Amino acid sequence: MKTLRLDANKPADVQLAGELLQAGELVAVPTETVYGLAADASNPEAVAKIFKAKGRPTDHPLITHIGSFEQLANWAADIPEWVESLTQCFWPGPLTLIFERHPNAPDVITGGLQTIGIRMPAHPVLLELLRNFNMAIAAPSANPYQKLSPTSAEQVMACMDGKIAAVLDGGNCMVGTESTILKVSQNRAQILRSGPISEIDLAPHLTVPVVTPEKHQYSVSGNKKRHYQPDARIMLLSAQEIATRAIPKNSKVGVMAYSPELKTIKCHHLSLMPNDHQSYRKRLFAALYEMDCKGCNELWIEAPPTGLSWLDIWDRLTRAAQK
Ligand code: TXA
Ligand code: MG
Repeated sequence: MKTLRLDANKPADVQLAGELLQAGELVAVPTETVYGLAADASNPEAVAKIFKAKGRPTDHPLITHIGSFEQLANWAADIPEWVESLTQCFWPGPLTLIFERHPNAPDVITGGLQTIGIRMPAHPVLLELLRNFNMAIAAPSANPYQKLSPTSAEQVMACMDGKIAAVLDGGNCMVGTESTILKVSQNRAQILRSGPISEIDLAPHLTVPVVTPEKHQYSVSGNKKRHYQPDARIMLLSAQEIATRAIPKNSKVGVMAYSPELKTIKCHHLSLMPNDHQSYRKRLFAALYEMDCKGCNELWIEAPPTGLSWLDIWDRLTRAAQK
């Protein structure tokens, strides 16, 4: 299959992306977090194709992306009233909420669970597409299972060319890590995946206690120890360790660092990272991808700052470094 590269700035291309989705094809779409591998959520055969293209186990549930609040009731049931404060503040945006599923939500999306993950993405072109076609899409990140999430159309093409009908190029993702996942019920909330919206951001909108489980029982691919992996081996090191470490013979070492003293370090490829969490997050997956493109076989990554706003970045890097 030849994968079409469509341009989100061209209305005819956006229209074609919508028509391909409606016809049951897979289309990679831009969101504000990472690119998603989308299928029409109301078409179980189309959704099933996602698992084949990604090589993802079929019991790993998918997030359903909606374009309007009215669509929520088609997919979720028992929606707690207090959640309105969250959706009003954070939708469209990088917050996925896990609700009880609506009986009509297909098993292929929920992985057989009684719950369903839903979010309204903030990319303007995708939002317009969902609204114009009055469609919901099921979409995991557009990467092969356990590999790096793509934040550009180029990255999608590098891993999905020939496996999907099209990629809609909407530029580089503005946020850069996947949405925060919050499981909600009448009397409590649980953060299942840290993301760009931190517990501090959520706190003013929560009228129920938050539980952050260390491990939970769901089969959640974002919860696997190994995930978000580039080809190169990752080591998380302090600035001082990087500055004083000897480069092993025959190794192509890439360095990702933000401390000024590492600006001139000698290595195969240097990526200077921003030191504020928003810009760092936006750059993270693209920088890891570049390291693979440059042929690095070892990555020395300066350990990022700590604090709740950096939690999702730590989460992605720790899983990426896991062997
Ligand atoms: O930002 C994002 O969330 C991106 C963009 C494309 O929207 N999507 C994304 O999808 O990261 P994916 O499939 O790579 O990660 C979704 C995570 C998985 O770990 C999945 O197991 C979990 O959400 N998930 C989905 N439905 C769930 C449910 N009902 N209960 C628990 N976890 C669920
Ligand atoms: Mg993913």
